[in-house]
Amino acid sequence: MSPRPTDPASPAAFPAARPRRLRHTAALRDAVRETSLAPGDLVAPLFVKEGLDEPQAVPSLPGVQQHTVDSLLAEAKELRALGIRTLLLFGIPAHKDADGSEAWNPDGILQRALAALREAYGHDLVLAADTCLDEYTDHGHCGPLDSAGHVRNDDANEGYARAAVSQARAGADLVAPSGMMDGQVAAIRRALDEAGFAERTAIMSYCTKYASVLYGPFRDVAESAPSTGDRRGYQLDPANADEGVREALADAGEGADVLLVKPATAYLDLVHRVKEATGLPLAAYHVSGEYAMLQAAAERGWIDGPAVAEEVALSLRRAGADLVITYAAAEIARRLA
Ligand code: PBG
Repeated sequence: MSPRPTDPASPAAFPAARPRRLRHTAALRDAVRETSLAPGDLVAPLFVKEGLDEPQAVPSLPGVQQHTVDSLLAEAKELRALGIRTLLLFGIPAHKDADGSEAWNPDGILQRALAALREAYGHDLVLAADTCLDEYTDHGHCGPLDSAGHVRNDDANEGYARAAVSQARAGADLVAPSGMMDGQVAAIRRALDEAGFAERTAIMSYCTKYASVLYGPFRDVAESAPSTGDRRGYQLDPANADEGVREALADAGEGADVLLVKPATAYLDLVHRVKEATGLPLAAYHVSGEYAMLQAAAERGWIDGPAVAEEVALSLRRAGADLVITYAAAEIARRLA
């Protein structure tokens, strides 16, 4: 071997920059790690269904249950033991109607679940409540319909506002409007303030939510598939990124405290851009279809499911998400322990 050229100007010189130097030991890699992922960054979506005697598994979303209030309390305890403190709660009512009026029943299933969690765990947990009507309407759309089958925007907002106030009364720290109606954050903020929750209840707005084909398994769990049509009249077109940023800026202007991008992995550009544009706390929702794909491949032994879920969560954090909402929260937290 000829001696190694040391003149960096020599075309044969070895590179001065050798990034591998910092990858040489685990401790070094740790020292230069840019992004962290901890159980406290994870949010677990949980479903509670009225009238169940026993928790019920859902075939298209393995590992996810429709809970009773009791089994929900038990799962919350397990999640807390793993370091997960934020829960995103969805209610499935026994009775649905055209307006979704069970959503603001003070004795509704979600309200009872919130109160029970608050009673059992105090403020050790952060309770977020889904503020939408699709689980509550008999037609499965996110608000009341006009005669042509379009959601009536301002009437939907009225329902969200009533639901949000009843969720705040039941103990929610965060209300999370997911219906993509124009002005939903302003309507909810005004109603919360008028009801005395100006200082206590924050809004996590699904500002940048796409009309994705990845929500199928969720609709099985939440029993919220639209009976006719789809949600393209209110959710964003997957082709549009600038519009997704505009939606985020609008919600920030209306007083949203936390923003949310959904789905996650195919929309990392939006996670990044929304964070850059607003600087607000940001959640990314790794949705049911994304999770189901991981689970299916893992079941076949094609991938290591929890390891992939952890990498996905880390990548969402790297792109700009503060919080990662994922059905794999417990699996990931177990790996991090
Ligand atoms: C609607 C809502 C949906 C999800 C969360 N809130 C479904 C939809 O828009 O049809 C989907 C979440 C998931 O797929 O995991 N309120």
